[in-house]
Amino acid sequence: MEETSFISRQDNLLKSIDEGIVIIPGAGLKQKSHDTEFPFRQNSDFKYFTGFNEPDATLVLKKTIEGEVERHLFLQEKNPEMEMWTGIRLGSEKAPEVLPIDSAYPNHEFTRRLPDLFKGHKNLYYNLFNHDLQSKVTKALKSLGGKRKEKYFTPLHWHHLSPLIGMLRLRKDQNEILAMKQAAELSDIGHRAAMALAAPGVNEKEIDQLLSYLFAQENGEGPAYDSIVAGGTNALILHYIANNQNLKDGDLLLIDAGAQVNTYASDVTRTFPVNGVFSPAQKDLYQVVLNSQKVAMGHMKIGATLKEIHTSTCQILLKSLIEADILKGSFEELWEKDAYRAYYPHGTGHWLGLDVHDQSPYLDNQLEELTLDEGMVFTCEPGLYLPVGDASVPSKWQGMGIRIEDDILITQSGPENLTRSIPKEVKEIEEACKEDIKTILSKLSSPSLLS
Ligand code: GLY
Ligand code: MN
Ligand code: MN
Repeated sequence: MEETSFISRQDNLLKSIDEGIVIIPGAGLKQKSHDTEFPFRQNSDFKYFTGFNEPDATLVLKKTIEGEVERHLFLQEKNPEMEMWTGIRLGSEKAPEVLPIDSAYPNHEFTRRLPDLFKGHKNLYYNLFNHDLQSKVTKALKSLGGKRKEKYFTPLHWHHLSPLIGMLRLRKDQNEILAMKQAAELSDIGHRAAMALAAPGVNEKEIDQLLSYLFAQENGEGPAYDSIVAGGTNALILHYIANNQNLKDGDLLLIDAGAQVNTYASDVTRTFPVNGVFSPAQKDLYQVVLNSQKVAMGHMKIGATLKEIHTSTCQILLKSLIEADILKGSFEELWEKDAYRAYYPHGTGHWLGLDVHDQSPYLDNQLEELTLDEGMVFTCEPGLYLPVGDASVPSKWQGMGIRIEDDILITQSGPENLTRSIPKEVKEIEEACKEDIKTILSKLSSPSLLS
């Protein structure tokens, strides 16, 4: 584990506070049905500061006004009987050797130790919306309240921690960028394979499963979010995840799917013809969306804001909708009414990182839009969704949903499209659709599907 990087992330957080105690709980297991749980997913903030992937752990950082720092971890205690059922636990004895902390204790000591950890601090930082932690914090503080003879400060000033962490997570370091590039590479393999496999009669489910399989190759951890495999009009449902319909000749297929590596997400959408060749109507509409994405990319530079990028994308899409006679009226009047929203209802991009919708702020302390800077990663995902039965939409376009989504890293020398290798131009897509799925799978380091 790269301890220094986690320590420096903790130090960066502590730099933003004068003194205090910081509590960052990891995730627990979530019940799926009686006696079974969902696959474990670590809390992103906890992962960011520790790299530790066990459930039910809590990081406690302390900083005195003199700048002395302590790093404590509470975690599951070793328990051979339980480990036989659910897997090996690191345990409190070993934890300080391999994790970026000074001391570790079993979870059952949390309630007892918390009051002592609190003593002497004035400030407490944690996620104020975590009610479970809040009740433990309150109990610990109450237990300190009644001792009149003892003289020490207690942390009665509570601060919401999430925005501080969100600001840190906004700029990715080299380790994070590496993980995101690896995730992008797996997404490339997945989307190419989907283009090769898709054909009339193939079920969305088969493509969904193929994506999951490919996203778990090498160091991949599977899909970063539920894949959207939406043939035909299913693409009009923005978060369609049923993925269980047969693909139809003449339809488009929208796939929004990205691999996860070391808990870092990629988030990619491609839209292509099920039969491998764009019809003239599909090509025209596809080019409109692709063009809007290129315009958006032209605005991506240090100092720009995601809002500016969104505005320029909406403007170009609105112009195209007017040119296509779908929206009728002057640009100014339709812009004033947000008329494009009927066909482009979502944003053009969001922060990307440990969370697919990364939990970083969009506004600064002055409520100004945050400006793009080196190391920030976000998506660029314009789309158009033209409903069936909308009399303003020519029938050749009704029922089409097109989105194109890439992941962008801001660098000193401009935007770097991390997912640029995934076919996107009409010609590239039609070529990729002609590929043989067996050839793609045979190039994998472990082509077990073929054996
Ligand atoms: N995959 C979710 C999104 O594009 O925001
Ligand atoms: Mn996205
Ligand atoms: Mn997406």
